[in-house]
This record gives sequence, structure tokens and C-alpha cells, in this order.
Amino acid sequence: MNDFIFSKTDKIIVLTGAGISAESGIKTFRDSNGLWENHRVEDVATPQAFKKNPVLVWNFYKQRYYQSLKAQPNNGHKALIELEMKLQDNFTLITQNVDNLHSKAGSKNIIEMHGSLNKCFCIKCQTRYSVSDINLEREIPLCPKCNNYLRPDIVWFGEIPYNLDLIEQKLKEVTIFISIGTSGQVYPAAQFIAISKLQGAKTIGINLLPPQNKNTMDYFFQGKAGELLPSLIKEWCKNI
Ligand code: OAD
Repeated sequence: MNDFIFSKTDKIIVLTGAGISAESGIKTFRDSNGLWENHRVEDVATPQAFKKNPVLVWNFYKQRYYQSLKAQPNNGHKALIELEMKLQDNFTLITQNVDNLHSKAGSKNIIEMHGSLNKCFCIKCQTRYSVSDINLEREIPLCPKCNNYLRPDIVWFGEIPYNLDLIEQKLKEVTIFISIGTSGQVYPAAQFIAISKLQGAKTIGINLLPPQNKNTMDYFFQGKAGELLPSLIKEWCKNI
């Protein structure tokens, strides 16, 4: 148990996925028979889908946006604040989630590698907007600057995740990598833990079910993030 104790000089990366928001009432992607809120992922989360049916795609993301406004962070999100406060700049939170619950909980340094429901951008002039500043009444919201279509600022399948350079830099220094509530099926995020392990970092997983990349985890805790994280983080940080 002793090698679980973190020190102030540890460089910790936490990667979160849909599982950490499950206890806030947001459905995960792969736990519902391959459908995501009753849609096939290819119909709503690809650039091709947006080209083919922008109204359907916008309707889907408007619903996700309104749902995220109502959702509240749970004890899993909140426990990560304690880790960030203790480790300060030595703590990095990378999330695949787009629901803004980490920032609602109070996390400061968040890398949102798959974008955010709070933002959108113009497909022509690329200007980014906060979704709260645009007219969502329109079936397909338009860019206030150039009148072209806006699209949700979400990294869709087939697109390149955000901030990969920064993530690469963080992965070079990591000493402890913690993967929480993610299936280990979506790349490149799924391989961050293996990269960390190869570089000698200690690797930890917390998940309801064993994820696909469980073999890269030195320690695996099975259960709900909101139930496990508060006491685990207390124990890990007891010397800091
Ligand atoms: P998934 O839905 O694939 O996986 C969620 C994981 O969380 C599963 O392994 C569950 O067992 C686990 N889980 C469920 N409830 C949990 C709980 N309360 N506590 C802990 N674990 C729990 O979601 P992700 O792996 O995050 O991409 O999906 C990765 C990406 O694929 C998403 O970011 C999204 C998606 O399609 C884009 O939208 C680009």
C-alpha cells in the first residue's frame, strides 16, 4: 500500500472518460447497445453526418448541451479538485468528455481533448463562439460574422483531437497516470496509459467494468468513480 502514497514532486496525469459523468446522469457511449442517446454514432458524430444532415446533428448536440447545463458534478469530479489543489502545476487533467462537469466542479487546468458542448465554430471563417452567445432557435445556427453554418466544437470521429502537442509534452514527464471511467477503446486517448507505463510511470485504473487496456494498469480498482475516488485520493495524498 505504501507505494500508493503520492509525493508533491510526482507529476500526475488523470485521464477521464464518460464513466466519471455517469453518476451525474449523463449516459456513457458504449453502455447502451452501441447507440448513443438513441442514435448511431456515425449519424451524429462524424463530419460526414454533419454534411449530410446538419439539422439532425445540431438537434442532437443542442439536446446534449441543454442536458449538460442541468447536470451537476458528482463526488468523482469533486475529489479531483483535492488532487489539483495539492499538486498544483504537477497535476494535469485530460478529459475526453465534452460536458463541462470538471470545470463546473472547479477544476482549473483541464485539457478538453474532444472539445466542449459549450463552444461552436464557423465552418468557413473558423471563428469560435460560446454556445450561450448564439441563437440556438435556428435549426442550423449561423455565424454572426459571415453568415455561414456554425458547427459544434466537438472532435468527431475521423478528426484530430485537440492539444496533442501539449499532451505529448506532459506524457514525457508523468510519474503517475490515472485512467478513470473510460473504455480504453478510443485512440489516441486509450494509449496514453501505455506510453506512460513504458516511460516508467505508475499506472492506475478506476472503472466500473474492466476496460480494454486493463493490461497496462499496475493497479486496477473496479467500481463507481464517485464512490471510490474520494477515499482513494485521501489515502494517496496523506503525505502531501
Ligand atoms: P465509454 O462509454 O466508451 O466508456 C465508459 C466507461 O466508463 C466504461 O468502461 C464503463 O464501464 C465505465 N463506467 C460507467 N459508469 C462508471 C462509473 N460510475 N464509474 C467509473 N466507470 C464507469 O466512454 P469513453 O471511453 O469515455 O468521443 O469514450 C471515449 C470517446 O468515445 C468519447 O469521448 C467520445 C466517444 O465516442 C467523441 O465524442 C469524439
